[in-house]
Amino acid sequence: MNGDFNFYTPTRVVFGHGAVERAAEQIRAFGGSRVLIHFGGGSALRSGLIDRVKRNLDENDLFHVELGGVMPNPRLEKVYEGIELAKKNGVDFILAVGGGSVIDSAKAIAYALAEPELDVKELYEHTRKAKACYPIGTILTIAASGSEMSDSSVISYEDKKRGYNSDLCRPKFAIMDPELTMSLPDYQTCAGCSDILMHTMERYFTNGSKLEITDAIAEGLLRTVMKYAAILHADPQNYRARAEIMWAGSLSHNGLTGCGNDGNDFASHRLEHELGALYGVTHGAGLTAVWPSWARYVYKNCLPRFVRFAVNVMGVTPAATQEETALAGIAAMEAFFRSIGMPVTLRELLDKEVSEEEILLLARNCALATGGRVGSAMSLTETDMANIYRLAK
Ligand code: NZQ
Ligand code: ZN
Repeated sequence: MNGDFNFYTPTRVVFGHGAVERAAEQIRAFGGSRVLIHFGGGSALRSGLIDRVKRNLDENDLFHVELGGVMPNPRLEKVYEGIELAKKNGVDFILAVGGGSVIDSAKAIAYALAEPELDVKELYEHTRKAKACYPIGTILTIAASGSEMSDSSVISYEDKKRGYNSDLCRPKFAIMDPELTMSLPDYQTCAGCSDILMHTMERYFTNGSKLEITDAIAEGLLRTVMKYAAILHADPQNYRARAEIMWAGSLSHNGLTGCGNDGNDFASHRLEHELGALYGVTHGAGLTAVWPSWARYVYKNCLPRFVRFAVNVMGVTPAATQEETALAGIAAMEAFFRSIGMPVTLRELLDKEVSEEEILLLARNCALATGGRVGSAMSLTETDMANIYRLAK
């Protein structure tokens, strides 16, 4: 509890107009010569982005094969398909063109290529640690997950959704042209903005030590993302707002907003991952559906932070008691999520009533995935997890 930290963010960011045309140059700079272009369910094909990328690689004599079809909440089956294709073609570099789902799938393939005799699933089962990872680069098409700079990848298999974290998988470069995100449906844009807010909020609500500079960066990021998310909700073609959100997305999850804060909370994320596994929901929407209930359940345990959040981030005027101020801050964030069309209950998320059996199953799975406890604002047990799902109904 002394504010020490280890900040490692080795990804080169190429940001702005025409950045896509720098793909081949970047791949070569990081030693790639045989490339797997990995992409999603169709948006990058429809927009012509994949053709642009292939042209850029062709013009620079870079061999490439391609594998599309990665779906949101990416599946291990697609990862295995990518591994086989990459091995067959002697791939030495993976270029992920898409969002968090594509990037995470690329990371899983890259781990497998580096240790071909092992099953990559073991990483997500946490039965072994990765020793190596092939290089990956990204061309980002949605600002949300922060996977373009993060150490994390999240893969779904059977009825599980599991993450694996290691610095080994941090992308070598991230190509970010805000214009690429203009074709996003409003719901995906706003779910992405919510995920970006959550990546910093998960680091902010802690009972650990605090660095003023980290808090200032975190609070500034949260205010900025709310401001530009509201602008994008009304004016999706606004380049400036797209740029602000895109850069915030990377900074929110590359570690910067948690430096020295002694342990992240990430309970809302772990509660959401079970919703993703069971119902396949959009990640950012699953987060907003649980966060208000999580916050009201834990705030007394982390009261000074919730008060500070209310005043510095949500602009709440301090009330008579700290508790009232904290609750007003939570209500203000809940209202903000609503204002950009995000669900704030499970009923709004799923369009149905969640049964007691489902709640117990979600809590059981979350406890299994987290080793029984999760959270820094408050260390949650399986009973707490079930209570939060119940509150979120
Ligand atoms: O598949 P396509 O057709 O491309 O459609 C995608 C998908 O349906 C669409 N989309 C993306 N860019 C678009 C576009 N549609 C139109 N125009 C564009 N420019 O958006 C949908 C969502 O894409 P996805 O990649 O799933 O979104 P996101 O970036 O939010 O990633 C979500 C995944 O990342 C994981 C989540 O759990 C989830 O599985 N996360 C990964 C993290 C990490 N690796 O650090 C951290 C996060 O907390 C998160 O858990
Ligand atoms: Zn997230």
